[in-house]
Amino acid sequence: YFDDAKAAMLNAASEADLEQARIEFLGQKKGKLRNLQALVGKAPKEEKPLVGKKFNEVRTEVTALLEARQQELSTASSSDAVSDFDPTLPGHPPTIGNLHPITKTITQFREIMGRFGFTVVEGPEIEDERHNFDALNIPNDHPARDPLDNFYVATAKATAGGPILLRSQTSTVQIRTMEQVKPPVRIVSLGRVYRPDTMDATHSCMFHQMEGLMVDTDVTMAQLKTVLSLFARSFLGPDVEIRFRPSFFPFTEPSVEVDMKWGDSWMEIGGAGMVDPNVFKAVGYDPDKVSGFAFGLGIERFCMKNYEVDDIRRFYENDVRFLNQF
Ligand code: PHE
Repeated sequence: YFDDAKAAMLNAASEADLEQARIEFLGQKKGKLRNLQALVGKAPKEEKPLVGKKFNEVRTEVTALLEARQQELSTASSSDAVSDFDPTLPGHPPTIGNLHPITKTITQFREIMGRFGFTVVEGPEIEDERHNFDALNIPNDHPARDPLDNFYVATAKATAGGPILLRSQTSTVQIRTMEQVKPPVRIVSLGRVYRPDTMDATHSCMFHQMEGLMVDTDVTMAQLKTVLSLFARSFLGPDVEIRFRPSFFPFTEPSVEVDMKWGDSWMEIGGAGMVDPNVFKAVGYDPDKVSGFAFGLGIERFCMKNYEVDDIRRFYENDVRFLNQF
């Protein structure tokens, strides 16, 4: 009886089965254990205490099994997932994320420029024409203003600063900073810029720039070159060389394109130059009293070179197989 009763309790597949088993074995009137109890009464006198004790043990154990199985079946029916849970399986280790390579590079750039005494400032990505063009001495007929080369926000009302667009360069932050503080100025600003380029391995319609601006009484081109060389060496190692090529930007005069020699090849890293007097006038600085340099570097360029990434699109696809490598 005992073994049958145990098996019946353990194997009951549903609450109804279990109720059947309870009636069969533990039922008050016809339960099989009742019959067994009747036998205890008939046992020889001297064996009665022992047989009685044994019977009680069996009944207690069968009752315990019944209750345990009742518990199991009722939790299983309230949540199927629980019944599939195997506590003996090893756990899933939590996946730990890591910083995006561009974020890492930005953090390093800030840290390096911070050591040179440059304060990090932020500017908005949605800008007006004043900060993106006018105050930067970019004339109305300049090709950089072409609506096809910019993301104008069509629905926006023109503000005091003119129509609204996604900034095409971080040079906007030069203007915003000088509007707010008096010289001397020594800032960098790192962030996103937007240009409607066709996406390919080296072009993206959104990318990141680091803008730098230093204004004081006697700032020189030599200082610009020094800051950029020190920056490049701090980031990529002591062998990096910097070279300037004459160029043109409306907001700097003279203007240069900056190349960096790393290994055997020259790579263009951005534009730079001495702040144009018209820019100082636009922000209320006196061009006779101050001078300054400015530079704008493409952050993806450095990041691609540093990590040997050959396609800029990888940075924006959020493919964890790519991102896990950094
Ligand atoms: N804003 C320029 C660009 O996006 C780069 C630049 C910044 C050039 C500062 C000169 C001075 O191409």
